Amino acid sequence: MRGVVTATRSPEPVRAAAVPVFEARALSVWLGERRLLRDVTLDVPRGGVTALMGPPGCGKTAFLRALNRMNECHDGALTRGEVRFEGGDVYAPGVDVRALRRRVGMVFRAPRMLPGTVLDNVSYGLRVGPPMGRGERDARVERALARAGLWGELRDRLGEPAAGLANGAQQRLCVARALALDPTVLLLDEPAATLDPVETATLEEALSTLRDELTVVIVTHAMEQAARVSQTTAFFHRGDLVEVGDTRDVFTRPRREATEDYLTGRFG
Ligand SMILES: Nc1ncnc2c1ncn2[C@@H]1O[C@H](COP(=O)(O)OP(=O)(O)OP(=O)(O)O)[C@@H](O)[C@H]1O
Ligand SMILES: [Mg+2]
Repeated sequence: MRGVVTATRSPEPVRAAAVPVFEARALSVWLGERRLLRDVTLDVPRGGVTALMGPPGCGKTAFLRALNRMNECHDGALTRGEVRFEGGDVYAPGVDVRALRRRVGMVFRAPRMLPGTVLDNVSYGLRVGPPMGRGERDARVERALARAGLWGELRDRLGEPAAGLANGAQQRLCVARALALDPTVLLLDEPAATLDPVETATLEEALSTLRDELTVVIVTHAMEQAARVSQTTAFFHRGDLVEVGDTRDVFTRPRREATEDYLTGRFG
């Protein structure tokens, strides 16, 4: 990439004006010998949607998973640098990782249904968490399904097997399962990758409401999707953060050649 990427490794936080919910500083992630991220310094603004873009293998997922310590699920993962969530060091000794993941929920590329019914799925985190009365649980379930755009569709089907739902509804059920815990942040790793255009539009509609209520970080390969749903876009390449800014600016006036090459389809 004509030396662009190494020249742009920028240590300064790029969005100092917004109040960040996450602050990553010189964040590096290795998996065994392989370095997935290199000294990434990036603020995720509170509220709204931040899109992570870049060619396959550039470290988008590694960055997303660093935010709630999911990389540690891989043997041989090593994280260096700093991630602060609401000011607190995510990697400090003694951090309750399960509590962190309840506040920073995650949805993966393809729907991951748990065995059992729709209700079992959406209430899973409530059942394994602190004790809660039936009334509160039901209210949380309804609210989570509503926020994921599913209440109308599923209110009379709570006892049906979740595995029987259409793919798009399953993915929104995964969103609802995370939302039931009332997270501060929702991490979405290519959530529409396996969805058809209609299902994708329904998911995006749900996101457009959610972005007023919490912070969403979404990895996407679809530029149109990033342009539609996000207010901030971060562009990664080969483990580096190349640039970050308001989505409109990144798309219309990219500051880095690598970003422009990607947006114009020259690679990726
Ligand atoms: N479990 C793993 N084992 C070995 N290598 C991995 C593993 N996960 C990721 N990698 C490698 O780490 C690098 C960064 O991966 P990452 O998944 O963060 O990229 P990505 O930008 O999310 O890519 P994609 O768009 O393909 O999802 C890639 O080169 C990938 O091959
Ligand atoms: Mg990925």
